[in-house]
Order: sequence, then C-alpha cells, then structure tokens
Amino acid sequence: MLDTLTISTQPTAKSRLPEIDFDNLDFGRTFSDHMLVVDYHDGEWQQPQIVPYGPMTVSPANSAIHYGQSIFEGLKAYKSQSGEVALFRPLDNFHRLNASAERMCMPQLPEEIFMQGLLQLVRLDAGWVPEGPGSALYIRPFMFATDAMLGVRPSESYRFMIVTCPVGLYYPKPLRVRFEEKYVRSAEGGAGYSKNAGNYGAAMYPTRLGQEEGYNQLIWTDASEHKYVEESGTMNAMFIIDGRLVTPALSSSILDGITRRSVLQLARDWGMQVEERQVSAREIMQAQADGTLQEAFGVGTAATIASIAVIGYQGQDYELPAVADDAFSRRATAALAAIRKGQAPDAHNWMVRV
Ligand code: COI
Repeated sequence: MLDTLTISTQPTAKSRLPEIDFDNLDFGRTFSDHMLVVDYHDGEWQQPQIVPYGPMTVSPANSAIHYGQSIFEGLKAYKSQSGEVALFRPLDNFHRLNASAERMCMPQLPEEIFMQGLLQLVRLDAGWVPEGPGSALYIRPFMFATDAMLGVRPSESYRFMIVTCPVGLYYPKPLRVRFEEKYVRSAEGGAGYSKNAGNYGAAMYPTRLGQEEGYNQLIWTDASEHKYVEESGTMNAMFIIDGRLVTPALSSSILDGITRRSVLQLARDWGMQVEERQVSAREIMQAQADGTLQEAFGVGTAATIASIAVIGYQGQDYELPAVADDAFSRRATAALAAIRKGQAPDAHNWMVRV
C-alpha cells in the first residue's frame, strides 16, 4: 500500500534544454528531460519515480501491445509573463483517465499519484514550458497493461507514466474537413467516450483516405445512420448557427472534451444560446446554404480551437465565411489564452499553479 507519496527523483546528468529550437517545434517529437513512472502489481500502485526521459524495456508478449489496454490523457501547462507555470484543469483529466480506465478494465489511479506526479514533474521541467503565443508544454499522462501474457483477459499489472513536450500550434491553418459517411469512429455502446489508444488507431485509415482527397480531417458521423455529427478528427465539433453555439450532445461514442467544456462555459458566461443536442450533417449543410452557418471549428487540448474553412459533403466542397476578428471562435481562443497565461481573471478556478 502507498502510505506516503514519496516521489524519488533521479535528475538527468545533462539537460537537453540548450539544444531545443523553441521556434520550430514539431508537435510531440521533442520531449523534456524527465518522465514519471509508476507501476501497479499485486493489486497496488507502487512508489512513483521521476527519472530521465528515455526508452524502456517491454516484453514482446506485453498485453497492451496485443490487446490494447492502453489509455491516455492530454493537458497543457502554460507560463505567464511573470514566469509562473500553471496547469489547465488537471483534475478534469484525472477524472477522465479513471473513466477510461474503468471502460478498459484497468485499475483506478489515486488522485494523489496523478496530481503530485504531475506537479512535481512539471516543476522539475519548468524550464521547458514555452512562452510564445499559442505554445505550451503538452503533457501526456498514460497507462498501459504490462502483463507478459498472450491469454485474452485483463492484465494484472500496469504502468502509469507522464511525459511532456513543448509544443506550438497543432493546426497552423484553417482546416478542410469532410463528413465521413462510410467508416465509423465509434458506435453507441462502444468505447468512443474513453481515451483509449484503439480509438485513435482505428481512425487512421479513414483519415488517410480523407487526406488523400485533400482534407486535413474528417467529421465523423454516427454509426447507425451516418446522419449525425460526432467529432471532428481528434476534436469535438462546434458550429455557430445564427448566433447560437451548436454542438453534439455527449454520448457513449463522443469524448467529453475538456476544451469543449471550457468553450461551452465561456459561451454561457457571455450569454450565448448553447445547444448540446443531435446535429445532423444535413442541418449544417442547410445552414451553410442559407447563410446562417457563421462558424465551424474543432476544439481539443492539442488543437485548442481550430477553424474549419471548407466542409466536404457528398462529393462537393463548401466554403465557410472567413472568420471575422470578432467571431466567437476568435474571442474564445483569446479568452482562453488570457486565462491560461494569467492575463485575465480565472473566474472558474481552472488554473492550478505548479
Ligand atoms: C489532445 O488534444 O490531447 C488529443 O488527444 C489529441 C491528440 C491525439 C493529439
């Protein structure tokens, strides 16, 4: 049993920080100096450790590789102008990780390990948090099965880790997307609401087909009728129709995005009408045709808020109006950035100082 949370820390002998070109960060390729590692066996989480970032040994029979018990989270740390580092809504990620763990038959992680591990790791690598506009330290907590066993059953041992990487904008340009009406990301009753690795793997082939047609991402539609919007790529999808913010209601096939929650909260704070409901591809295209579709965008931790410039539907491309300076997605992007960088009041206590 974990009596006290001692995180043993083995600092790196030589930081790689001086080698990093912060102006040219390719998402997810540059990792900071340290990582957190915690193992689970005999029904208990063991002592967490912070060690230099680096490769690890995995059995060829590792059951996560064979059967996919592997889940992850994504959150970001920001640096204010005065150099303070803060995390955006980390407890929301903690709760979602455990919801994913339950769905994938994996053990629950104690809050203390998640939060203390995160805080101590980011504190140690605070020098890696970039300051430029649109940049942040992307934090990837993840858990995977570690049994070396080819029988199909839940693993009895697991590893939880956190790695971090300085990142810039995920989508530097407005997106071209198309409705996907053949392949499915997730069906009702499936595991689409959880952040398990398989959801992302299964999306790659249809996404590649879309990319070969010149789209950056797909807008997934529901599995039974291919009629209703689910998500856009790795983001939640949002639309401004006639001044109202419309987004698919959460379901077992849609990820409960933390950026989604935050953007909906801002819209409500600003007195906008927010509609979380079923929204069909046909409704979106009708709104595009009659000029009431003012904006379409995806929201996610990595992407933040990514504007959609073109939507493909049943073989045709439709252009959306250019995003005006006072458009909702621009104002929401600026408002979130200001809260995250400590330049605006944090009315909902989203930030956690490191
Ligand atoms: C995130 O926004 O954190 C995601 O999960 C997207 C990621 C797969 C790049």
